Amino acid sequence: MLYAALKTAHLLAVIAWVGGMFFMLTCLRPSLGVLDGPLRPTLMSAVMARFFAIVNVATLVVLLTGLWMLWSAWRLASGPGAVFSMPPSWHVMIVLGLVMMGVFGYVQGLFKRLRTALQVQDGAAVAPLLDRIRKAVLANLVMGVIVVVAMKLGAAA
Ligand code: HEM
Repeated sequence: MLYAALKTAHLLAVIAWVGGMFFMLTCLRPSLGVLDGPLRPTLMSAVMARFFAIVNVATLVVLLTGLWMLWSAWRLASGPGAVFSMPPSWHVMIVLGLVMMGVFGYVQGLFKRLRTALQVQDGAAVAPLLDRIRKAVLANLVMGVIVVVAMKLGAAA
């Protein structure tokens, strides 16, 4: 029961994180054209401030529930003489999950610089920063999808 609750929380946090990135890149960003030029980065910055606060919590939940499940699985499988071996999909998830968290840290650094650029009205810096954030978020979205597909196909194999 505890394991199922941890997995549910893990999955909900993943949905908020990966789903949010998908929405940002496929719906929000392509719709910015309806606004006047200067308003676009202002809206993106306001959206990112809220979304990244959510992702901060989501990554913490993903990490804590993931480590807790890992520890439970290890404890269950490590009886006398038994060896705990993780399925390949779990390796993919853990490695890419940690990389995704690193990339998110990098995005937060870029976002801090974007906010400063907007505050001091450094227009030349804004577009390149937004572009770097977009590319990093896209990389995280691709890794997130790979992890989910690997985990669900791995479970079906
Ligand atoms: C890096 C830290 C992470 C750790 C330690 C971790 C650990 C785990 C563990 C132990 C399970 C349970 C597997 C099972 O019982 O079958 C699990 C499930 C899962 N995790 Fe992770 N995980 C991490 C990050 C992520 C990330 C970043 C994603 C997606 C972006 C993700 C997606 C999933 C999915 C889709 C499942 C399967 C849930 C289900 O069976 O419905 N995990 N994770």
